[in-house]
Amino acid sequence: MKFFIDTANLDQIKEAQDLGILDGVTTNPSLMAKEGISGDAKVMQHYKDICAIVDNNVSAEVISTDFDGMIKEGKKLAALDDKIVVKIPMIKDGVKALKYFSDAGIRTNCTLIFSAGQALLAAKAGANYVSPFLGRLDDIGADSFGLIEDIRLIFDNYGYETEILAASIRNSVHIVECAKIGADVMTGPLSSILGLLKHPLTDSGLAQFLADHAKAAGK
Ligand code: G3P
Repeated sequence: MKFFIDTANLDQIKEAQDLGILDGVTTNPSLMAKEGISGDAKVMQHYKDICAIVDNNVSAEVISTDFDGMIKEGKKLAALDDKIVVKIPMIKDGVKALKYFSDAGIRTNCTLIFSAGQALLAAKAGANYVSPFLGRLDDIGADSFGLIEDIRLIFDNYGYETEILAASIRNSVHIVECAKIGADVMTGPLSSILGLLKHPLTDSGLAQFLADHAKAAGK
């Protein structure tokens, strides 16, 4: 399973990269705004800064919602660095843009996926990644893991190479459940990744080992 971090915070991206387990970064306009990044020049520079930290896969989202605007923006983002994956919303012009970028050899991530039909359409249009939003489905009481299962089944039925990028991950349980189902990638906050480390028996076991070692050493 690939691990992406879902943030535009450079310190958190560095911390995850330093762990040695990071495969990429996803951002969105809300995450950029949270870091106070606005204006074309600053946004572009911030993407370059992120690309300088990680090895590959930096999803950068277009703001335009019309085909021509998405193509113009996507090309500009893709020209920043080979690591950029252009993030396109699941709307009608977005599907056209996915096909355009697929034909042009520019990688895409189709975002705001909430149904298996949307994921099928994005795969058909040649998206490299589809991003179903788990946490937001949970928020409205919908079956988020069922959606990942359905997309996995459909992609396997037809051999689509589009990767399932489980997004809106909120905790480590989300990550483990998505791994069990077979999502290709997960993207979540640093806290969800670090949450995988935690088990009380690990903490108490280590404390006991260290205490026994100190006792044996006569400390
Ligand atoms: O990758 C999508 C993600 O940023 C949405 O997460 O927590 O805002 O639902 P959240």
